Amino acid sequence: MEKTSSWGLHLFELFFLVLLSGYPLCCQGSWMWLGITSVGVVEKMGCANLPLSSKQKDVCKRKPYLLPSIKDGAHLGISECQSQFRHERWNCSTSKQPSVFGYELTSGTKETAFIYAIMAAGLVHSVTRSCSTGNMTECSCDTTLTGSGSQTEGWHWGGCSDDIAYGTWFSRRFIDHATKNASVHADEALLIMNQHNSEAGRQAVAKTLWKDCRCHGVSGSCAVKTCWKTMASFERVGNYLKERYENSIQVLDRTKRKFRRKEKEQRHMPIGREELIFLNKSPNYCVENRRLGVAGTRGRRCNRTSAGPDGCNLLCCGRGYNTHVVRHVERCECKFIWCCYVRCRRCETMNDIHTCK
Ligand SMILES: *[C@@H]1O[C@H](CO)[C@@H](O)[C@H](O)[C@H]1NC(C)=O
Ligand SMILES: *[C@@H]1O[C@H](CO)[C@@H](O)[C@H](O)[C@H]1NC(C)=O
Ligand SMILES: *[C@@H]1O[C@H](CO)[C@@H](O)[C@H](O)[C@H]1NC(C)=O
Ligand SMILES: *[C@@H]1O[C@H](CO)[C@@H](O)[C@H](O)[C@H]1NC(C)=O
Repeated sequence: MEKTSSWGLHLFELFFLVLLSGYPLCCQGSWMWLGITSVGVVEKMGCANLPLSSKQKDVCKRKPYLLPSIKDGAHLGISECQSQFRHERWNCSTSKQPSVFGYELTSGTKETAFIYAIMAAGLVHSVTRSCSTGNMTECSCDTTLTGSGSQTEGWHWGGCSDDIAYGTWFSRRFIDHATKNASVHADEALLIMNQHNSEAGRQAVAKTLWKDCRCHGVSGSCAVKTCWKTMASFERVGNYLKERYENSIQVLDRTKRKFRRKEKEQRHMPIGREELIFLNKSPNYCVENRRLGVAGTRGRRCNRTSAGPDGCNLLCCGRGYNTHVVRHVERCECKFIWCCYVRCRRCETMNDIHTCK
């Protein structure tokens, strides 16, 4: 723990909330022990006893009702990261030590970039949800639009538009401000990189906002149409960020609080707020490296016919794969019998499972 930067520590603290809360992130590998903790532990412990920095404890004391949103946000971020990367060599796997994400949290690679972005976005998303459900005094629906609209297109703003302003502000405050107090270990460039990518995550929620509408009028005639702004599902935010990850930009370490692209020909091009940036090239994640906490892909399941990252060739890094036959039993050919039950047959299939050597 001592060796992680305050940034690492900070995120660790955030995830600790998830762990303590017994979230049903369930239940693989190091998450297994989640099952034994009970929901509500965090609330009972009180802010003072939580593993938070002094600034975060402050926020927690003044706004204890935000704790569920913080937990939700962390949960959203982690599970979306794992879902986006489930077929890749780096699969966003988590562990307890030394920080939940291990090496990737401090390596300054594009994986670090994605983690910071998705966690910051998760917080915006969950806090905004809480605003929209009317659970907060600080925020509610965005009413600034109400009344306007487009007469020619036949719709007007109404209903509850998601107001991401508060969630965005809160995410900045909770993640960035709390970590401005950098420890001696924290590397300045990495800090700024992380901050940029957290902001890119928040931008992702803003950029994926969309307009949903409902028709009113006699039997769905749509004489009147009411529209409201709504956040995209977090999965869509994840897709958006995954795309930014694929196109992330390597920057130079020599920072005067402003990064420039590493690529010589592109140095003059500005870097947008929504872009993900990274300092260091990633390891190849093919072989186990205990020092870096890289698990390697040995034993990972791969797809023999896929040309994508989950294909055996790519995932196994050319080492080849083993094939096992697995028997799969399921209910099939179900029939409805009058009256009233369903009768099925048991069907057995043999499936080939491929795992990396
Ligand atoms: C990621 O891959 C490792 C093996 O490299 C595996 O043990 C782990 O369960 C995977 N994690 C997830 C979240 O899929
Ligand atoms: C609203 O707040 C109450 C108590 O403060 C809490 O029990 C409930 O889960 C919250 N609902 C949402 C949707 O956050
Ligand atoms: C910064 O960190 C030091 C040492 O951990 C702590 O004593 C101090 O209160 C922190 N300052 C703020 C503003 O959080
Ligand atoms: C393997 O990849 C192929 C081609 O992408 C796909 O059609 C198939 O569903 C995949 N199989 C599994 C088990 O994921």
